[in-house]
Amino acid sequence: MSPDGSPVRAGLLPERAIIAIDGPAGAGKSTIARHLARHFGLLNLETGAMYRAFALKVLRKGLPLDECGVLEALAAETTIRLEPGDDENRVLLDGEDVTGQIRNPTVTDAASRVSVFPAIRAWMVRMQQQMGANGGVVMEGRDIGTVVFPHADVKIFLDAAPEVRGQRRFDQLGPKAAAQPEEVIRELHKRDERDRNRADSPLRPAPDAVLLDSTCMTLDEVVKAAENIVEKRLGLAESMP
Ligand code: DC
Repeated sequence: MSPDGSPVRAGLLPERAIIAIDGPAGAGKSTIARHLARHFGLLNLETGAMYRAFALKVLRKGLPLDECGVLEALAAETTIRLEPGDDENRVLLDGEDVTGQIRNPTVTDAASRVSVFPAIRAWMVRMQQQMGANGGVVMEGRDIGTVVFPHADVKIFLDAAPEVRGQRRFDQLGPKAAAQPEEVIRELHKRDERDRNRADSPLRPAPDAVLLDSTCMTLDEVVKAAENIVEKRLGLAESMP
């Protein structure tokens, strides 16, 4: 144990570690996860992209987003794979690269809707556990530290005030933003509510997660803070010159 009671596992090789990054939409999880993966030489896995890919398939087939049996049957004949990409994961839905088709508002909303069903979550969690089984991953989502890898070596819950997250999301969209900032904030808030209040695996910090609130921090500061958390938890800080 470290002086603050955290379970430092000195000697654990970062390349075997599992780092869980959870938090609401727009908190900066992807940016931080991507950075940590590069910095520590790990694979970055964006689990939200898997829910998005499945939602895309449901929409393409014109199926209802709220009928569990229909969704479960579709899941049984669906394969989703994540591959490392330069910037974001490449997402393969039944072998087709759908990376460029899963970030629009319709798919975003549908992903949040299909993710409330326990059968869909159980299927996703199984795939995610297989992908991270050998360690060496930064896995980012809503339930990584609570459900997918409750024994993850490092858990960070990244949060920020809703208006700040909405504004960041709006800025990120740039000229592609079809909506006004207020509308982006409203949509984000709606999705948050659904993700936080669903019965199965609601978005919440694991009891042993380190909370990182980026509301008043610059990106550089958040990156540095996240790096420090990982180094401390993995016991790397002590062994550094
Ligand atoms: O992280 P994201 O915005 O790409 O996620 C899209 C939706 O997928 C999100 O609103 C809820 C769902 N999701 C989830 O339920 N569990 C995860 N581990 C990741 C995403």
